[in-house]
Amino acid sequence: MGEYRIPDQLKQFVTDNTIVVRSPGRINLIGEHTDYNNGFVLPAAIDKAVYVTIEQVSGTKLFLHSVDFNETVEIELNAIKPVPGHWSTYILGVVDQFLQKGKQIGGFKLSIYGDVPLGAGLSSSAAVECAVAFALNELLNARFSRKELALMAQAAEHTYAGVKCGIMDQFASLFGKKDHVIRLDCRSLEYEYFPLELGEYVIVLFDTMVKHSLASSEYNIRRSQCEEGVMLIGQNYSSVHSLRDATIEMVNECIGEFETAHRRCKYVVEEIDRLQKGCKDLERGDLKAFGQKMYATHEGLSKDYEVSCKELDYLVEYVKQYHMVIGARMMGGGFGGCTINIIKKDLVEELVNDLTVAYLKNMGKELKHYMVNIEDGTSIIN
Ligand code: GLA
Repeated sequence: MGEYRIPDQLKQFVTDNTIVVRSPGRINLIGEHTDYNNGFVLPAAIDKAVYVTIEQVSGTKLFLHSVDFNETVEIELNAIKPVPGHWSTYILGVVDQFLQKGKQIGGFKLSIYGDVPLGAGLSSSAAVECAVAFALNELLNARFSRKELALMAQAAEHTYAGVKCGIMDQFASLFGKKDHVIRLDCRSLEYEYFPLELGEYVIVLFDTMVKHSLASSEYNIRRSQCEEGVMLIGQNYSSVHSLRDATIEMVNECIGEFETAHRRCKYVVEEIDRLQKGCKDLERGDLKAFGQKMYATHEGLSKDYEVSCKELDYLVEYVKQYHMVIGARMMGGGFGGCTINIIKKDLVEELVNDLTVAYLKNMGKELKHYMVNIEDGTSIIN
């Protein structure tokens, strides 16, 4: 590969024996909250990443250093446990996965730095987990496949960060491919790359700068609401094991009387279908039709799944008035973070200027925006 460089912030930690890994954040074009329902997603790895250096040391101690937090943690291997809310928990969760799988680990020195904005819905935590998993795999010569590493990184998020996430973020970070999106079947983990040909359009993210503290608890609640829905449908249709297997008719018939569960499940079933149709739009090169589906996804996430917030809704409503924005929606888990927008290149500057002023005036916050390039997934860069 060779095109990804060690960031200056980490150079002081690199010697001849150091392994350096880069693992990117992700965007998702469509297919939100579908991964843990065994549906499809359409993510891509981006040009913002987490970098990890790792090197063996004698003994059984781990020395973890975060450049971003300017903090070092020392811990004995046999004493590791979750530290919810602390940056080290994502690293320790991955170490724990290797131990669970019976891998012998000795002491090591690890440093970490990233330019994936935290809490912006770009999966900085998955990027950390995947970078650490990839680095440990190399250090220990453990030979886990990328798929196994993705599952271990996801398990680390469940056990050490307490978020019962799906597989999308970790998969996208590990399997990303430059200029391609990944259509991932979250049931079978089969995947296909699609070239993302945007022509005169670009992808721009608008960051609400809202980091909602409810995000992880509400996320787990949504997940269990979907599971309840599946249970209710399963009583009448024994072949339904996830919302992927359900139709909208089944949802109406079996969950109709439970207002909240009904809206949650309806959204998911519709979104799984929307993604399939959206992929056909992309194959036909019909970006406009695809963009309309993004708006529909936002509507569903906001009204039925209820994972949006007023700032996300504001940003999506605002861009609707520009016909050169062909699609926009909130992205990721929700309750803050970014919207993803497909915008005609020529309009970007003007729109960013107008929206920045309007956002500050109406929402009282500075707006950030990121132009996104799609890059390769996790790799060793030293
Ligand atoms: C978060 C989770 C993913 C996925 C998205 C919503 O990013 O980590 O697994 O569920 O939310 O699509």
